[in-house]
Amino acid sequence: MNNLIDSLVPDNIKTLKAYKPGKPIEALIKEHGINKAIKVASNENPLGPSPLALEAAARELEKMHLYPDGDSHDLKEVLSAHVGVSTDELIFGAGSDELIDLIVRTFCKPGQDQILTHKYAFISYKLSAQAHNVEFIETAVDEGYQVDLDALLEAITPKTRVIFLANPNNPTGQHIRRPDLERFLSRLPREVILVMDEAYYEYAIDSEGKEYPNSLTYRHETSHPLLITLRTFSKIYGLAGLRVGYAMADCAIVDYMNRVRRPFNINRVAQAAAAASLQDSAHVEQSRVIAHQGTRTMVALMTSLGLKAYPSLTNFTLVDLGKPVDSIYRQLLNLGIVVRPLGPWGLPDHLRISVGTSEEIDSVIATLSKVLES
Ligand SMILES: Cc1ncc(COP(=O)(O)O)c(C=O)c1O
Repeated sequence: MNNLIDSLVPDNIKTLKAYKPGKPIEALIKEHGINKAIKVASNENPLGPSPLALEAAARELEKMHLYPDGDSHDLKEVLSAHVGVSTDELIFGAGSDELIDLIVRTFCKPGQDQILTHKYAFISYKLSAQAHNVEFIETAVDEGYQVDLDALLEAITPKTRVIFLANPNNPTGQHIRRPDLERFLSRLPREVILVMDEAYYEYAIDSEGKEYPNSLTYRHETSHPLLITLRTFSKIYGLAGLRVGYAMADCAIVDYMNRVRRPFNINRVAQAAAAASLQDSAHVEQSRVIAHQGTRTMVALMTSLGLKAYPSLTNFTLVDLGKPVDSIYRQLLNLGIVVRPLGPWGLPDHLRISVGTSEEIDSVIATLSKVLES
């Protein structure tokens, strides 16, 4: 039977490795018979969602027997005013993850086109490329994981359809600075679609002295019309469990993506909670402060343990343990702490640790220190 099934599956699917998400906290507690665990593996918001989002979601639950608005009309209106982009330039996905897949399905010809990114980029780009049988090419980064934009430009061929750049990137946390992005855009062939994945935008923007660019600025005539900006409600808005992300792009791009999008991909609770979240700027500000203080504290504490930790404008930190992390990862799990080992990203000596509450940070670093000593 297995042989028969194998014979029916195309090679690109046969060799595809399923994405392994961070272990859910409930599963960890059950498996290890412990009563408390800390999950800092998925760059979630330790503050949780806005109370306004919770209220809006609760109100919407009563209508769960009704299909959601397939066009997310109300959310679109609120978001349009919030980001200053017209409603026909907006499209929603069940997380920005779905939009990454939708871009590949909408624009790439399987077996013909190429997708380009750099090493250690967000892993969904690779998974979607392979799932849809589109050639995937990665270029070099420097020893600090900074993207080499010249190498990326040199790798462009007539087959290059889409370039994915996460800014800041997950898992390295590195960001591309404004002058570098502008130089890259000025040399980018006009027919290549550039996706700027800004999942951590709200954490990064306005960081003093860091020259973090808002890619929306470059969408119009002066630079690159084929620019798609991705953002999400999963990170600073604390709605990862509801799955809402959005893309902003030329209305013709959005129109094509809408033809491929499943009609009711954003459920009604998610639509209501996302719209309400946009009204709570105090929650966003508080979340940003927690992330900035948290990453600074984590980098300082990990550096004091003799580890190489990478500062970032996000809500997570990359740390190099200088040796394979698998057994350390498992020991931390046994002690009720879930971090993210980065073997699947090609970084077997590295962990990615998200910002938790200050008690969680202290507990994670103390436990890591104990495990490293043992
Ligand atoms: C760079 C980047 N892009 C996209 C995503 C996907 O986020 P979501 O699908 O929850 O919107 C993530 C999640 O970790 C991310 O780090």
